[in-house]
Amino acid sequence: MTSDDTTDLLLSRLEGNPVALLNFARTFLLAKGREREAREVCERVLAASPHDPELAALARSVIGHGIGSWYFTMVQDVNRHALYERALKAALVKGGRVLDIGAGTGLFAMLAARCGADEVIACEQNPAIADAVRDTVAANGLSDRVKVVAKLSTDLQLGVDMQGPADVVIWDNLANNLIAQGATKAVDDAKRRLAVPAAPFIPSRAEIMLALAHDLKPENRQMMIVDGFDLSAFNRFAPSGYTKQQPSVALRSESRTIFDFDFQSGSYPPERGAVSLTASGGQVDGLIQWVRFHLGHGIVYDTLDETAHAFGLEFHGVTPIDTVPGQAIEAGGRHDGQSTWFWLERR
Ligand SMILES: C[S@@+](CC[C@H](N)C(=O)[O-])C[C@H]1O[C@@H](n2cnc3c(N)ncnc32)[C@H](O)[C@@H]1O
Repeated sequence: MTSDDTTDLLLSRLEGNPVALLNFARTFLLAKGREREAREVCERVLAASPHDPELAALARSVIGHGIGSWYFTMVQDVNRHALYERALKAALVKGGRVLDIGAGTGLFAMLAARCGADEVIACEQNPAIADAVRDTVAANGLSDRVKVVAKLSTDLQLGVDMQGPADVVIWDNLANNLIAQGATKAVDDAKRRLAVPAAPFIPSRAEIMLALAHDLKPENRQMMIVDGFDLSAFNRFAPSGYTKQQPSVALRSESRTIFDFDFQSGSYPPERGAVSLTASGGQVDGLIQWVRFHLGHGIVYDTLDETAHAFGLEFHGVTPIDTVPGQAIEAGGRHDGQSTWFWLERR
């Protein structure tokens, strides 16, 4: 008997008991990484009892498993959409085929269609999200022009998933530090295999930015004396960075580019960088890192902007120092193409 046979047998025994079916989906199928089957069980249960709030609550935790809540905040960033739409319009003056890497909600793929793309390949690695994109595209009447492919972009095949190479590539497999979701690998691969030689990439370039900062709403990421006990031994596990949103951080210097990634030309910065920052005075207890995206045609999206909800600011705590205006402070950074680390140099 194969494990599939065992699953089918168990499922057939649980038939007629929706709570048991949902528990099986959550505690067995999800735990075994069989997310698609877990979702299918939930959808079957919900289809049979569409108005049962208890079943809906139990099923939601399975259906939403592993889907970041940040999709919901990301789409509030309407200024970002306007900038990307302008960039797409400029790149699609003559129409053409668009590859959207990391389709997410499908928004950029649909924007590309609205901006004149003849065809859009919306590539999304997560099959559950890809299913939702397919439904979204259909609901918006764009299924004839937007094709959803549930694959990692590096697994896309010309002639199978795409009839020909892309004339424009929009990619959004992004992270607060720009590169944690494998941006360079996906872009390099698309350039080599999936796009015409001169295809514009949106974004074409991105700078990892750094400034001295003071956390205005410190969340006590360091443990000290708590209820009279010294808990500082636990600080060996303290996170090296954490995510903030504007305006919970005050900048204490000008901003500088520490790493400059030119995706259009494939020129990436060395793994170690340094910047000299001029303090504006006051306490500095961290370095704040964000990203400045260049979308082509002079269009810039800066995640430090107060309206930029799609990205968080990464706060890298340092031992607090009191600075005076004009004081020069050296900061260092390192990246390995995926992770980033930042620190203040010894004075
Ligand atoms: C920031 S979200 C996408 C945002 C999207 N532009 C939107 O507005 O909804 C990034 C998505 O890229 C997907 N992803 C990451 N790397 C990928 C890759 N190499 N190929 C396909 N999808 C990828 C993730 O699963 C995630 O859904």
